[in-house]
Amino acid sequence: MIHRHSEVSSVRSVLKKLPRPHALVPTMGALHEGHLELLRAAREHVGPEGTVIISIFVNPIQFDRPEDLTSYPQPLEQDLALCEAEGVDVAFVPEAASLYASDHSILVTDSLLSKHLCGATRPGHFDGVLTIVLKLFHILHPDLAIFGKKDFQQLALIHRMVRDLNVSVKIIGHPTVREEDGLALSSRNRRLTPAHRADAPRIRRALSAARDLAPSGEQNPQVYLDAARHHLLLEAPADFKIDYLEFVDSLSLQPISKFVSPATLATACLYGDVRLIDHIEILP
Ligand code: PAJ
Repeated sequence: MIHRHSEVSSVRSVLKKLPRPHALVPTMGALHEGHLELLRAAREHVGPEGTVIISIFVNPIQFDRPEDLTSYPQPLEQDLALCEAEGVDVAFVPEAASLYASDHSILVTDSLLSKHLCGATRPGHFDGVLTIVLKLFHILHPDLAIFGKKDFQQLALIHRMVRDLNVSVKIIGHPTVREEDGLALSSRNRRLTPAHRADAPRIRRALSAARDLAPSGEQNPQVYLDAARHHLLLEAPADFKIDYLEFVDSLSLQPISKFVSPATLATACLYGDVRLIDHIEILP
Protein backbone atom coordinates (compact mmCIF):
# COMPACT_ATOMS: atom_id res chain seq x y z
CA MET A 1 0.00 0.00 0.00
CA ILE A 2 1.27 3.42 -0.94
CA HIS A 3 1.34 6.10 1.80
CA ARG A 4 0.24 9.45 0.38
CA HIS A 5 1.17 12.63 2.24
CA SER A 6 0.81 16.31 1.55
CA GLU A 7 2.13 17.61 4.89
CA VAL A 8 5.83 17.88 5.65
CA SER A 9 5.39 16.74 9.25
CA SER A 10 3.34 13.64 8.39
CA VAL A 11 5.64 12.46 5.59
CA ARG A 12 8.63 12.91 7.89
CA SER A 13 7.09 10.84 10.65
CA VAL A 14 6.13 7.97 8.32
CA LEU A 15 9.58 7.97 6.68
CA LYS A 16 11.28 7.66 10.06
CA LYS A 17 9.69 4.25 10.47
CA LEU A 18 10.44 2.88 6.99
CA PRO A 19 13.58 0.81 6.33
CA ARG A 20 16.62 2.33 4.67
CA PRO A 21 17.98 2.86 2.12
CA HIS A 22 15.48 5.44 0.92
CA ALA A 23 15.45 6.37 -2.78
CA LEU A 24 13.68 9.51 -3.97
CA VAL A 25 12.37 10.16 -7.49
CA PRO A 26 11.34 13.83 -7.76
CA THR A 27 8.69 14.51 -10.44
CA MET A 28 6.06 16.99 -11.45
CA GLY A 29 3.55 14.21 -12.14
CA ALA A 30 1.81 13.45 -15.47
CA LEU A 31 3.81 10.25 -15.24
CA HIS A 32 4.91 8.38 -18.34
CA GLU A 33 7.11 5.37 -18.99
CA GLY A 34 10.25 7.52 -18.50
CA HIS A 35 9.23 8.34 -14.93
CA LEU A 36 8.22 4.73 -14.31
CA GLU A 37 11.68 3.57 -15.40
CA LEU A 38 13.16 5.86 -12.75
CA LEU A 39 10.88 4.29 -10.13
CA ARG A 40 11.98 0.81 -11.22
CA ALA A 41 15.63 1.87 -11.03
CA ALA A 42 14.94 3.23 -7.53
CA ARG A 43 13.57 -0.16 -6.46
CA GLU A 44 16.62 -1.91 -7.95
CA HIS A 45 18.89 0.37 -5.94
CA VAL A 46 17.17 -0.05 -2.57
CA GLY A 47 16.15 -3.71 -2.94
CA PRO A 48 12.83 -5.25 -1.90
CA GLU A 49 13.21 -4.14 1.73
CA GLY A 50 14.24 -0.55 1.03
CA THR A 51 11.90 2.41 0.55
CA VAL A 52 10.96 4.08 -2.74
CA ILE A 53 9.62 7.63 -2.45
CA ILE A 54 8.14 9.74 -5.23
CA SER A 55 7.44 13.43 -4.97
CA ILE A 56 4.76 14.84 -7.24
CA PHE A 57 4.79 18.62 -7.24
CA VAL A 58 4.31 21.09 -10.06
CA ASN A 59 6.87 23.55 -8.77
CA PRO A 60 5.57 27.05 -9.56
CA ILE A 61 8.92 28.83 -9.15
CA GLN A 62 10.61 26.92 -11.99
CA PHE A 63 8.09 28.06 -14.64
CA ASP A 64 9.29 31.07 -16.57
CA ARG A 65 6.07 31.27 -18.61
CA PRO A 66 2.84 31.46 -16.55
CA GLU A 67 0.86 29.73 -19.34
CA ASP A 68 3.16 26.67 -19.03
CA LEU A 69 2.27 26.39 -15.35
CA THR A 70 -1.49 26.70 -15.85
CA SER A 71 -1.50 24.23 -18.75
CA TYR A 72 0.68 21.63 -16.96
CA PRO A 73 -1.35 18.37 -16.83
CA GLN A 74 -2.12 17.09 -13.31
CA PRO A 75 -3.76 13.65 -13.53
CA LEU A 76 -3.04 12.92 -9.87
CA GLU A 77 -5.28 9.90 -9.29
CA GLN A 78 -3.92 8.20 -12.41
CA ASP A 79 -0.36 8.99 -11.31
CA LEU A 80 -0.94 7.49 -7.87
CA ALA A 81 -2.41 4.33 -9.42
CA LEU A 82 0.73 3.98 -11.57
CA CYS A 83 2.93 4.47 -8.50
CA GLU A 84 0.97 1.86 -6.59
CA ALA A 85 1.42 -0.61 -9.48
CA GLU A 86 5.18 0.06 -9.44
CA GLY A 87 5.40 -0.71 -5.72
CA VAL A 88 6.20 2.83 -4.60
CA ASP A 89 6.07 3.08 -0.81
CA VAL A 90 5.52 6.79 -0.22
CA ALA A 91 4.13 9.59 -2.42
CA PHE A 92 4.79 13.12 -1.21
CA VAL A 93 2.28 15.43 -2.89
CA PRO A 94 2.58 18.83 -1.22
CA GLU A 95 0.55 21.99 -1.80
CA ALA A 96 2.52 24.97 -3.11
CA ALA A 97 1.35 27.12 -0.19
CA SER A 98 2.76 24.66 2.32
CA LEU A 99 6.21 24.64 0.68
CA TYR A 100 6.65 28.32 -0.09
CA ALA A 101 5.90 31.01 2.47
CA SER A 102 4.28 34.00 0.78
CA ASP A 103 7.39 36.05 1.60
CA HIS A 104 9.99 33.36 0.79
CA SER A 105 13.17 35.08 -0.35
CA ILE A 106 16.02 32.56 -0.48
CA LEU A 107 16.88 30.67 -3.68
CA VAL A 108 19.67 28.33 -4.76
CA THR A 109 21.42 30.02 -7.67
CA ASP A 110 24.04 28.72 -10.07
CA SER A 111 26.41 31.13 -11.73
CA LEU A 112 28.04 28.98 -14.41
CA LEU A 113 26.40 25.78 -15.66
CA SER A 114 23.06 27.48 -16.29
CA LYS A 115 24.43 30.22 -18.57
CA HIS A 116 23.83 28.31 -21.81
CA LEU A 117 21.29 25.85 -23.24
CA CYS A 118 17.92 25.88 -21.42
CA GLY A 119 19.26 28.24 -18.76
CA ALA A 120 19.87 30.95 -21.34
CA THR A 121 16.34 30.90 -22.74
CA ARG A 122 14.47 30.17 -19.49
CA PRO A 123 15.47 32.84 -16.96
CA GLY A 124 15.13 31.70 -13.36
CA HIS A 125 14.16 28.17 -14.32
CA PHE A 126 17.16 26.40 -12.81
CA ASP A 127 17.10 28.50 -9.63
CA GLY A 128 13.58 27.15 -9.20
CA VAL A 129 14.66 23.57 -9.91
CA LEU A 130 17.67 23.66 -7.56
CA THR A 131 15.66 25.30 -4.80
CA ILE A 132 12.86 22.73 -4.87
CA VAL A 133 15.26 19.79 -5.15
CA LEU A 134 17.25 20.99 -2.14
CA LYS A 135 14.01 21.54 -0.19
CA LEU A 136 12.86 18.00 -1.06
CA PHE A 137 16.22 16.62 0.09
CA HIS A 138 15.87 18.48 3.39
CA ILE A 139 12.28 17.38 3.93
CA LEU A 140 12.66 13.74 2.91
CA HIS A 141 16.32 12.94 3.72
CA PRO A 142 16.77 10.30 1.01
CA ASP A 143 19.97 8.28 0.78
CA LEU A 144 19.86 8.50 -3.01
CA ALA A 145 17.87 10.35 -5.64
CA ILE A 146 17.34 9.40 -9.27
CA PHE A 147 17.08 11.88 -12.14
CA GLY A 148 16.74 11.37 -15.89
CA LYS A 149 19.67 12.10 -18.18
CA LYS A 150 17.09 13.46 -20.60
CA ASP A 151 17.29 16.75 -18.69
CA PHE A 152 21.06 16.69 -18.86
CA GLN A 153 21.63 20.32 -17.83
CA GLN A 154 19.31 19.82 -14.85
CA LEU A 155 21.23 16.68 -13.86
CA ALA A 156 24.60 18.46 -14.19
CA LEU A 157 23.32 21.30 -12.00
CA ILE A 158 22.05 18.92 -9.34
CA HIS A 159 25.41 17.12 -9.25
CA ARG A 160 27.08 20.51 -8.89
CA MET A 161 24.71 21.67 -6.14
CA VAL A 162 25.26 18.50 -4.13
CA ARG A 163 29.02 18.90 -4.46
CA ASP A 164 29.17 22.64 -3.81
CA LEU A 165 26.72 22.66 -0.89
CA ASN A 166 27.91 19.37 0.72
CA VAL A 167 24.53 17.65 0.46
CA SER A 168 24.82 14.01 1.48
CA VAL A 169 22.51 12.47 -1.10
CA LYS A 170 23.86 10.16 -3.78
CA ILE A 171 22.69 11.34 -7.22
CA ILE A 172 22.04 8.75 -9.90
CA GLY A 173 21.48 9.61 -13.57
CA HIS A 174 19.20 7.29 -15.55
CA PRO A 175 19.42 6.94 -19.37
CA THR A 176 16.78 8.66 -21.50
CA VAL A 177 13.75 6.50 -22.23
CA ARG A 178 12.61 6.83 -25.85
CA GLU A 179 9.72 5.86 -28.09
CA GLU A 180 10.56 3.24 -30.71
CA ASP A 181 11.05 5.96 -33.31
CA GLY A 182 13.63 7.71 -31.13
CA LEU A 183 11.54 10.54 -29.66
CA ALA A 184 12.46 11.08 -26.00
CA LEU A 185 9.44 10.51 -23.76
CA SER A 186 8.08 13.71 -22.29
CA SER A 187 4.83 14.79 -20.74
CA ARG A 188 4.78 17.47 -23.44
CA ASN A 189 4.59 14.90 -26.26
CA ARG A 190 0.87 14.48 -25.63
CA ARG A 191 0.37 18.14 -26.60
CA LEU A 192 1.80 17.57 -30.10
CA THR A 193 -0.64 17.39 -33.04
CA PRO A 194 -0.54 14.02 -34.86
CA ALA A 195 1.43 15.62 -37.71
CA HIS A 196 3.96 17.13 -35.29
CA ARG A 197 4.22 13.88 -33.36
CA ALA A 198 5.00 12.04 -36.61
CA ASP A 199 7.67 14.62 -37.47
CA ALA A 200 9.28 14.88 -34.03
CA PRO A 201 11.83 12.01 -34.40
CA ARG A 202 13.69 14.44 -36.68
CA ILE A 203 15.27 15.91 -33.54
CA ARG A 204 16.98 12.68 -32.57
CA ARG A 205 17.88 11.94 -36.20
CA ALA A 206 19.53 15.33 -36.62
CA LEU A 207 21.64 14.89 -33.48
CA SER A 208 22.65 11.36 -34.53
CA ALA A 209 23.62 12.57 -38.01
CA ALA A 210 25.97 15.11 -36.44
CA ARG A 211 27.45 12.48 -34.13
CA ASP A 212 28.17 10.27 -37.13
CA LEU A 213 30.75 12.85 -38.25
CA ALA A 214 32.97 12.18 -35.22
CA PRO A 215 34.85 9.14 -36.60
CA SER A 216 36.18 11.38 -39.39
CA GLY A 217 38.24 13.20 -36.74
CA GLU A 218 36.58 16.55 -37.45
CA GLN A 219 37.49 19.01 -34.69
CA ASN A 220 35.59 22.09 -35.82
CA PRO A 221 32.42 22.36 -33.68
CA GLN A 222 30.71 24.44 -36.37
CA VAL A 223 30.72 21.45 -38.73
CA TYR A 224 28.67 19.46 -36.19
CA LEU A 225 26.32 22.36 -35.56
CA ASP A 226 25.79 22.92 -39.29
CA ALA A 227 25.03 19.23 -39.88
CA ALA A 228 22.50 19.11 -37.05
CA ARG A 229 20.86 22.39 -38.15
CA HIS A 230 20.59 21.12 -41.72
CA HIS A 231 18.76 17.96 -40.63
CA LEU A 232 16.60 19.84 -38.15
CA LEU A 233 15.34 22.26 -40.78
CA LEU A 234 15.22 19.98 -43.84
CA GLU A 235 11.58 20.01 -45.02
CA ALA A 236 10.46 20.82 -41.49
CA PRO A 237 6.87 21.92 -40.81
CA ALA A 238 6.22 25.65 -41.11
CA ASP A 239 5.66 26.08 -37.38
CA PHE A 240 8.84 24.23 -36.40
CA LYS A 241 11.57 26.40 -34.86
CA ILE A 242 14.96 25.83 -33.26
CA ASP A 243 15.01 27.53 -29.87
CA TYR A 244 18.71 26.77 -29.41
CA LEU A 245 21.31 24.38 -30.78
CA GLU A 246 24.63 24.31 -28.93
CA PHE A 247 27.72 22.14 -28.74
CA VAL A 248 29.09 22.31 -25.20
CA ASP A 249 31.76 20.66 -23.09
CA SER A 250 30.06 17.75 -21.29
CA LEU A 251 31.37 18.81 -17.86
CA SER A 252 31.50 22.61 -17.89
CA LEU A 253 28.48 23.03 -20.21
CA GLN A 254 30.30 25.90 -21.94
CA PRO A 255 30.41 26.11 -25.76
CA ILE A 256 33.56 24.54 -27.18
CA SER A 257 35.93 26.14 -29.66
CA LYS A 258 37.60 22.84 -30.61
CA PHE A 259 36.16 19.34 -30.38
CA VAL A 260 38.89 17.37 -28.56
CA SER A 261 37.14 16.01 -25.45
CA PRO A 262 33.64 14.64 -24.68
CA ALA A 263 31.07 17.19 -25.75
CA THR A 264 27.30 17.35 -25.88
CA LEU A 265 25.20 18.58 -28.75
CA ALA A 266 21.95 19.82 -27.27
CA THR A 267 18.83 21.39 -28.70
CA ALA A 268 15.42 22.70 -27.79
CA CYS A 269 12.90 22.85 -30.63
CA LEU A 270 9.41 24.23 -30.86
CA TYR A 271 6.44 22.70 -32.63
CA GLY A 272 4.09 25.64 -32.30
CA ASP A 273 4.24 26.31 -28.57
CA VAL A 274 5.33 22.79 -27.59
CA ARG A 275 8.99 22.86 -26.63
CA LEU A 276 10.98 19.60 -26.86
CA ILE A 277 14.57 19.06 -25.73
CA ASP A 278 17.11 16.42 -26.59
CA HIS A 279 20.88 15.99 -26.64
CA ILE A 280 23.57 13.56 -27.64
CA GLU A 281 27.03 13.07 -26.21
CA ILE A 282 29.78 12.87 -28.81
CA LEU A 283 33.23 11.45 -28.09
CA PRO A 284 36.25 12.54 -30.17
P1 PAJ B 1 9.68 16.04 -14.56
O1 PAJ B 1 9.75 16.75 -15.87
O2 PAJ B 1 8.38 15.49 -14.08
O3 PAJ B 1 10.73 14.87 -14.60
C1 PAJ B 1 10.95 14.06 -13.47
C2 PAJ B 1 12.17 13.20 -13.72
O4 PAJ B 1 11.90 12.33 -14.82
C3 PAJ B 1 13.41 14.05 -14.11
O5 PAJ B 1 14.56 13.53 -13.46
C4 PAJ B 1 13.48 13.84 -15.62
O6 PAJ B 1 14.79 13.97 -16.14
C5 PAJ B 1 12.97 12.41 -15.74
N1 PAJ B 1 12.51 12.09 -17.10
C6 PAJ B 1 11.57 12.74 -17.84
N2 PAJ B 1 11.46 12.19 -19.06
C7 PAJ B 1 12.37 11.18 -19.11
C8 PAJ B 1 12.76 10.24 -20.11
N3 PAJ B 1 12.20 10.23 -21.32
N4 PAJ B 1 13.73 9.35 -19.81
C9 PAJ B 1 14.32 9.35 -18.57
N5 PAJ B 1 14.00 10.21 -17.59
C10 PAJ B 1 13.03 11.11 -17.85
O7 PAJ B 1 12.37 17.31 -14.08
C11 PAJ B 1 11.42 17.65 -13.37
O8 PAJ B 1 10.19 17.02 -13.38
C12 PAJ B 1 11.53 18.78 -12.35
O9 PAJ B 1 12.40 19.77 -12.83
C13 PAJ B 1 11.96 18.31 -10.94
C14 PAJ B 1 13.37 17.70 -10.95
C15 PAJ B 1 10.96 17.30 -10.37
C16 PAJ B 1 12.00 19.55 -9.98
O10 PAJ B 1 10.75 20.16 -9.93
